[in-house]
Parts: sequence; C-alpha cells; structure tokens
Amino acid sequence: MTTRLHAIRGDITKLETDAIVNAANSSLLGGGGVDGAIHRAAGPGLLEECRLLGGCKTGDAKITKGYRLKAKHVIHTVGPVWHGGKSNEPEQLASCYRRSLEIALANGLSSIAFPCISTGVYGYPPEAAADIAIKTVREFVETETSLKEVIFCCFSEQDLQLYQSMGSE
Ligand code: AR6
Repeated sequence: MTTRLHAIRGDITKLETDAIVNAANSSLLGGGGVDGAIHRAAGPGLLEECRLLGGCKTGDAKITKGYRLKAKHVIHTVGPVWHGGKSNEPEQLASCYRRSLEIALANGLSSIAFPCISTGVYGYPPEAAADIAIKTVREFVETETSLKEVIFCCFSEQDLQLYQSMGSE
C-alpha cells in the first residue's frame, strides 16, 4: 500500500486523523505552543491520562486517547531543544518522527498528522527540521505499512512553503 504524504496549513487540533502528534516536553504535563492548544481542545481528561505515563524521554513518544478532539488519539513526542546542532539534535528529531510512526502502526492507525516538532519554543531551525521530517517519514513509509496518510500540519504560511519547496505535496 502506498502512503500519501502531504503538507497543509492549519490548526492541528481541528484535524480528524486517527492521531495527531503533540510536540510536548518530557513531563507530558502540558505547556505552551501546540502542546497548550492540544490540551485546551482535548479537555482535562488528556492531562489525567498523561499523569499516568511517567513522562517521556527526548526522541521517544507515547500514545493517549484524544478525548474531546476529533482525532482519536494523541501521540506525544518530545523533540530536542536546539543547542547548535552538535548535541544529537538531528538524530533525536528523526527519532521523534520514527517513534510516532511506529506507535501509530502498533495501534493499527491509518492516518497521522505532525506539527513542526521543535521549531517553536525549542528553537530548531525550521528548514533543517523540515528536511529531517520529510526524509524520516519517507524512509519509514517505503517499507510496506498500513498507514494511508501522513500530514505535515504547518501553522504558518512560511512553514507550508518550506514543506512544499521540499517536494511534499
Ligand atoms: N497547530 C499546529 N501547529 C501549531 C499549533 C497548532 N494549533 N500551535 C503552534 N504550532 P512549539 P516545540 C506550531 O513551540 O518547539 C511547549 O511548551 C508552531 O508554530 O509548540 O517542540 C511544550 O510543552 C511551531 O511550528 O513546540 C514544550 O515545552 C510548532 O508548532 C515546548 O513547547 C512547534 O512549536 C516544545 O517546543
């Protein structure tokens, strides 16, 4: 089966995919940016479930239900803080995408949407991050997977143009 990869501009909390990915921090107890928006839209049930997860390491991911979101699940991943690029940031960012996809597959999900992980508060340069996002997802879906659709959900027009210029439809 081929997986459709595409970039859109929008608010990830409004998407009806099987899962949306949250760019969380290692406590998994909420924060600002997309994390704050997801928790606000999902309601208090999400935080309650997150409290039971015992946090998450950088580069790893954990799944919860979607509560009041239209998405059925939230996959929480922890991106690296940008320290100049020589502290394993590229490997850790790639791992966020890979682990999220692995978890989606393990749960039989067929559609997933990613925000631009680490490119807000965590300061990862958007172009380098988009390159890793696209390459890692493409490589993952090359081997046969049950995923039908992977969406890169860009919050800004600039990010969308970046993904489009890198060949994501
Ligand atoms: N839908 C889609 N993308 C969004 C939305 C939204 N509703 N809101 C923001 N973005 P950031 P990080 C984009 O800072 O850099 C939190 O406090 C935003 O424009 O949310 O991984 C966590 O708790 C940017 O492109 O995440 C952590 O402490 C992207 O989402 C920390 O921030 C990521 O920006 C994580 O930092």
